[in-house]
Amino acid sequence: MKVLLVNGSRREKGCTYTALNVIAEELKKNGIDSEIFYVGMRAVNGEVNELVKEAADKMADCDGIIVGSPVYYASPTGEVEVFLDRLFYNHGDVLRYKPAASVASARRGGTTATFDALNKYYTITEMPIVSSNYWNMVHGKTPEDVLKDEEGVQVMQILARNMAWILKSIEAGKKAGVAQPQGVEKKYTNFIR
Ligand SMILES: Cc1cc2nc3c(=O)[nH]c(=O)nc-3n(C[C@H](O)[C@H](O)[C@H](O)COP(=O)(O)O)c2cc1C
Repeated sequence: MKVLLVNGSRREKGCTYTALNVIAEELKKNGIDSEIFYVGMRAVNGEVNELVKEAADKMADCDGIIVGSPVYYASPTGEVEVFLDRLFYNHGDVLRYKPAASVASARRGGTTATFDALNKYYTITEMPIVSSNYWNMVHGKTPEDVLKDEEGVQVMQILARNMAWILKSIEAGKKAGVAQPQGVEKKYTNFIR
């Protein structure tokens, strides 16, 4: 089983990466593979379609997803939002029913608003959200700061452990004959009489 870890930072090896790397290590300890997928600036540099296609292809082979974003002005970054808007609008089929989580990386504030915004993609796509013992956030300006955020590191480790548990439980459920819900045709109504 494998989890796609989306690094939504412009910095390939910055704070968000550091948090995702803690998750990757803990997933490995729990027998789950992972891959870090770097979003960078491609979504806002005219490559969003290629980027989203690459992510969707990878997601087809993954059983869960964790999206990490730095906090920019108390929100996920613009490039993460462009990427996720397109990924979730066009590729719900490879995401639906897969467990998901979000991670916010900030120097100081705006983490819970960012966490909430990211989680909204999952809750419109029938994806079970995996949680930890605090809202998933790390603090710092450098990777070293993040590793000093002992509580943040523990939150990432517990998140990874819980993701591994949920993935194994879903797998065990399938083997025991628990069927995945069947998709229904979605009703779309506008608030217009
Ligand atoms: C344009 C911009 C806006 C930012 N806005 C915030 C903010 O609102 N709150 C905050 O705590 N940190 C803010 N930061 C700091 C980053 O969120 C923080 O350093 C983060 O850990 C960087 O993650 P990264 O190394 O993965 O890019 C901002 C940084 C930039 C470049």
